[in-house]
Amino acid sequence: MTADQTKTSQEATGPAGPHGGSQAAARAVVVGILAAMAGLMFGLDTGVIAGALGFIGDEFHAAARTQEWIVSSMMAAAALGSLVAGRISFRLGRRRALLAASLLFVAGAGLCALAPSVAVLIVGRILLGLAVGIAAFAAPLYISEVSQESVRGAMVSFYQLMVTLGIFLAYVTDSLLSYGGHWRWMLGLMAGPAALFCAACLFLPDSPRWLMMRGERGRASQVMRLLRVSPADADAEIRDIAQELKREGGSGLAFFRSSPNFRRSVLLGVALQVMQQVTGINVLMYYAPKIFQAAHFGVSAATWATALIGLVNMAATGFAIAFIDRWGRRPLLILSCAIMTGAMVMAGGLAAVGGDSTPILGGMVAALLLFVAGFAIGAGPMVWTLCSEIQPLRGRDFGIACSTFTNWAANWLVSNVFLTVMAALGQSWTFWLFAIMNGLFIVITLAYVPETRGVSLEEIEARLMAGRKLRELGR
Ligand code: BGC
Repeated sequence: MTADQTKTSQEATGPAGPHGGSQAAARAVVVGILAAMAGLMFGLDTGVIAGALGFIGDEFHAAARTQEWIVSSMMAAAALGSLVAGRISFRLGRRRALLAASLLFVAGAGLCALAPSVAVLIVGRILLGLAVGIAAFAAPLYISEVSQESVRGAMVSFYQLMVTLGIFLAYVTDSLLSYGGHWRWMLGLMAGPAALFCAACLFLPDSPRWLMMRGERGRASQVMRLLRVSPADADAEIRDIAQELKREGGSGLAFFRSSPNFRRSVLLGVALQVMQQVTGINVLMYYAPKIFQAAHFGVSAATWATALIGLVNMAATGFAIAFIDRWGRRPLLILSCAIMTGAMVMAGGLAAVGGDSTPILGGMVAALLLFVAGFAIGAGPMVWTLCSEIQPLRGRDFGIACSTFTNWAANWLVSNVFLTVMAALGQSWTFWLFAIMNGLFIVITLAYVPETRGVSLEEIEARLMAGRKLRELGR
């Protein structure tokens, strides 16, 4: 909505009373927070396996290859889940997509906890993977569609904060339960928050943008009025959405085929997710305990040092939330990549010097903590936020499905080839390779990433479809 439209519409109906307005704003935030529980589930279920795997391996006498399957079946299913999520969320709505994910989370956690064999465990992990794929697709999309533009960045980043909280909590429960080797409890406990998330989904309204796409303008207006400070603001936003929907060109794949402008935003989303994964974040997330053990930490010290990584990840994401709508996406992303580049150069340098003296080991831990903090202030939250903002309404499900699928496919690829690359290049050059990727991310950000702070989704869409440069889609 443009400033002029806001003004005229407020003049027409007058500003909302202090209570109605603040209640609606609070309601929008609560709705965003409930949907962000999807992020918590994402984090819990991806994080929990790190600590459980060793015990599972022992109980089922599972070889390393089988253990890799237990881990990676979830990522492959998540990639698949993000693809079906596009269809579910387009046909049945974002809310029902989240509900479906929550049911899969409950079923998957239950099955994993009770699994009598590796095969059943893998089926459980596949259900969880489908759930994570659907949730990672639908939650940022839903949150960006219900949030007011002035807090949209913070709200989608809150989702990422919940991902990091989930990873951290999973590391902590793993550490606590590891003393008795209780892997079934580690995996089964996840059903509790999943059931809560399921209940939360029942209270969510449908996204007004999705309702408009279905031609249900009356219901869309009702929901929008519940979530906006004044009825006039809500009505103006609905008019903007209606305007964008009048454009020609079909939806989804047909739209992708017919519109070169839409192809550009899809490509940008895909590129952002590839770059997010080649920063090297998940090498750290999945292999941190191994890296610490290689640095002569004891087993339990390594688990707690990993929990520290999770804590820093979470705290720095909090920093991003505070500044994303003040400083904007581009400055934070550039700062983030610069920090990650520096940290990887440092880690590579320390690995090249080698040895296990205290300064070298301490320096390595510091470099890894710096790296994760760098990721969390930018590449983590900004990528999910930007991907949810840049796609035009009619192609949003398709565009975000493409970028979310890419996230999981790249995640799977990087974590699978990491050990091979490390064996071929050695540790230093592997770190330096990640440093180069992070440097490249700065160049891509400078050249193509728009500043979407405070700009409505409809304005972004109008500029995209008018053929403006990607960098200029925002302000
Ligand atoms: C990434 C995940 C990563 C997580 C770590 C997310 O933004 O997509 O791959 O594990 O951040 O916090």
